[in-house]
Amino acid sequence: MEQEKIKKIYAAYSNVYDAIFKRIFYPRIKHAIAVMDIKPGERILDVGVGTGISLGAFPKHCRVVGIDLSTEMLMKAKKKVVKNRLGNIKVVSMDAMSVGFRDNSFDRVFLSHVVSVVPDPYRMMSEVKRVCRKGGQVVIVNHFKSRNKLVETVEKVINPICKQLGWRNDLCLSEFIANSGLRVNKKYMLRKLDFWHIVFATNEK
Ligand SMILES: C[S@@+](CC[C@H](N)C(=O)[O-])C[C@H]1O[C@@H](n2cnc3c(N)ncnc32)[C@H](O)[C@@H]1O
Repeated sequence: MEQEKIKKIYAAYSNVYDAIFKRIFYPRIKHAIAVMDIKPGERILDVGVGTGISLGAFPKHCRVVGIDLSTEMLMKAKKKVVKNRLGNIKVVSMDAMSVGFRDNSFDRVFLSHVVSVVPDPYRMMSEVKRVCRKGGQVVIVNHFKSRNKLVETVEKVINPICKQLGWRNDLCLSEFIANSGLRVNKKYMLRKLDFWHIVFATNEK
């Protein structure tokens, strides 16, 4: 998907995103951040922070930077920061495929529902690995294509529609992990029948 098209799609979502997606996405986000067990003073990068539905789940004792390319989505995130007095959190406009932070700037990187959205997930992951310190943690919440052949076929058929809606559903988890060069510590779904994986990995550089 082209970046300009993605920006347009998410600009259009910004006013209704929380109403449509928060109920669906937040339980996994909350769970993943709780499992991260973030320590005091740690620096966290939230890539593709969107409207900031994750922000309230981070402990107050860490420093969080959320980045996103959509001005409209970021405005919603900024409102949450101000309204909830999240003084430890900043949200800034930035391309996840060209991150403007120095190498090793973060202890952990959190990516929820963004891997299937960016035009080049591997370019993004190379940036994630660069800005995350060696031995730091990379946590991904995302949909990957099903290993059930019937479901996979349906996903393939509806993929062009999903792309129009702002995401792809044809990424293979094992391929993604191999190409990203992450050392995965654990990966699972929150429910037996679920569409989203939660992946905890170590950044090996
Ligand atoms: C499905 S939303 C996920 C938002 C949030 N992480 C969540 O779980 O609710 C995907 C987000 O990725 C952002 N995005 C897409 N391409 C991006 C890029 N190249 N750099 C940064 N953010 C990007 C979109 O603007 C959108 O806010």
